[in-house]
Amino acid sequence: MRKKVVAGNWKMNLTKSEALTLYQSISKEAENVNCELAVFSSYIFLDALKQLENSHVSIGAQNFHQEPKGAFTGEVSFTQLKDLGIQNVLIGHSERRMLCHEDDAIIKAKIDVAMANGFQIIYCCGEPLNIRENNQHIDFVLNQLKENVLHLSESEFSRLIIAYEPIWAIGTGKTATPDQAEEIHAEIRKAIAQNYSEEVAAKMSILYGGSCNAKNAHELFAKPNIDGGLIGGASLKADEFIEIAKSF
Ligand code: PGA
Repeated sequence: MRKKVVAGNWKMNLTKSEALTLYQSISKEAENVNCELAVFSSYIFLDALKQLENSHVSIGAQNFHQEPKGAFTGEVSFTQLKDLGIQNVLIGHSERRMLCHEDDAIIKAKIDVAMANGFQIIYCCGEPLNIRENNQHIDFVLNQLKENVLHLSESEFSRLIIAYEPIWAIGTGKTATPDQAEEIHAEIRKAIAQNYSEEVAAKMSILYGGSCNAKNAHELFAKPNIDGGLIGGASLKADEFIEIAKSF
């Protein structure tokens, strides 16, 4: 009933030729998986990747600036992405929140501008370790949703994909257990039902991210509220990424 998605967040990795080769290797196998595939690359490869894009593996950007143009040295605007034909973006990734100091106001502004401009968004949320240890993770994540996305209209919200990514699991090799992930995915879906409707909640794809790999994906994706993954490290090898995508 809802989309299954496996998306690769390549972060600040790969050279141009490596990125193009990886995209082509993933694409070769893409017809053999039962889910949608996407990759999120560094800006500088997007134009070249776009020339190779096929309908099986969509290409997206990891970030953008919420102003259409102007004196923002080093930034890339959503209008520049649109000009390249990019339609998918990540927003709210914890590395941008922590390392680039993106607060809720900036994330909300990005969500609004991306929505108004027809982008497909993977919105990331997730708690740090101390919040999890104090058993406040559910409130913390639901509050992130409230601050960033629950103000959207029902039709806008339906164009979103949510990725739950506990910060303590990202790049650490420490994965949330399937039960830990399922608990919070179910709470997210419940909050969506309360804010919108059961129907909107049932259609929302909620991905898990955080040291997801070919070994643990099957167990995670078997949970009723886990609709795929946002994959960092394990998305940099075509074989492993495809194996993850075959885990449904
Ligand atoms: P990881 O990253 O799979 O390397 O933990 C996931 C992410 O940051 O999206």
